[in-house]
Amino acid sequence: MKPIEIAKDVYWVGAADWNIRDFHGYSVHQGSTYNAYLIMDETITLIDTVKKGFEDDLILNVSEIVDPGKIDVVISNHTEMDHSGGLPRVMHRIGEDKPLYCSQMGYKNLSLHFPQKWNYRPVQDGGSLNIGERTLTFMETRMLHWPDSMFTYINEDRILFSSDAFGQHYAGPERFDDEIGDAIMPHARKYFANILLPYAPLILKLVDKVKESGLALDMVCPDHGIMWRRDPAKIINAYVEWSTQQAKRKAVVVYDTMWHSTEAMAEAMAEALSLEGVYAKPVHLRRCDRSDIMTEVLDAGAVIVGSPTLNNGLFPTVSDFLTYMKGLKPQNKIGAAFGSYGWSGEAVKMISSELETMKFKLIDPGLKIHYVPDAEGFKACRELAGKIAAELPRE
Ligand code: FEO
Repeated sequence: MKPIEIAKDVYWVGAADWNIRDFHGYSVHQGSTYNAYLIMDETITLIDTVKKGFEDDLILNVSEIVDPGKIDVVISNHTEMDHSGGLPRVMHRIGEDKPLYCSQMGYKNLSLHFPQKWNYRPVQDGGSLNIGERTLTFMETRMLHWPDSMFTYINEDRILFSSDAFGQHYAGPERFDDEIGDAIMPHARKYFANILLPYAPLILKLVDKVKESGLALDMVCPDHGIMWRRDPAKIINAYVEWSTQQAKRKAVVVYDTMWHSTEAMAEAMAEALSLEGVYAKPVHLRRCDRSDIMTEVLDAGAVIVGSPTLNNGLFPTVSDFLTYMKGLKPQNKIGAAFGSYGWSGEAVKMISSELETMKFKLIDPGLKIHYVPDAEGFKACRELAGKIAAELPRE
């Protein structure tokens, strides 16, 4: 992917990862990008690097603008290795002694990742750096996405380099929001649901802080995906909406099944919910990726989880999903459990217990059906669906 001038003397110089499909367990159906930025001022400044293996793309992109050895300073907004993995080669190419700016926690975390004794310049929240015609301001954004994360803002150009925040795992020919339009929003939403959701309360505080500071934003440039220049407020407002996690009249019926009994229960409940005006569909855990399911969970008012009992426990994919969802800390959900069993039937109780741990509101002890649902069993599924529908907000 070629470099592009995004504002006068400010360039995107990152790399596209067209073929990645699994980003540490998160499915990326359309690849991703590792965005890095070059500011050609009196002090030539590189913001972030790329994942290990993509250094050549970055160095080649910089070379189209300036000799990489002329870069004066590097800013690392985030230690995670999709942005810092390229640092050793990049620092080696541009000069190991060049100043490397990062947050205080960035200094600590980069030092734990790399043995090189680079010329670290840890900065304070609100600290600034004059690079000639421009002044950069640093803003600590702890836990968005790691304790070391920070934003860098060009005061004069009103450009915010937002690291992971406002990103999307998407690689395409489009580089800006105005080129792709609303088609980018599902990618942004999935990224939020799977990466930033646990930090939703911090995001709301951060947005307040940015609003109070009166920071003007002409452009928001994240470290993944397209850059927001036509309407940066759109993604910021979306983050506020997603962070509030207001429940919709929507239910996700997640399940796995051995001999289709739990599946039949899931389908019966989804159908009954739909008849009650709830947006609901059954989702088979071996047919859908957990990260896509979490994207659906984001605004759902109810998550109904089904598992057959296998060897006195949960079906493994159900355990996997519950573990994943628990870590992402979704809020304001109603929960319920269901499943078919042969002789012991522990799975439903185990799901309910996990949902309770996640602070879901359980509206039923759970529905167990012995082997195969009959007419009475399906009636019980519809009744459980009715209870859930009654608890969901009307729209
Ligand atoms: Fe894109 Fe938290 O790294």
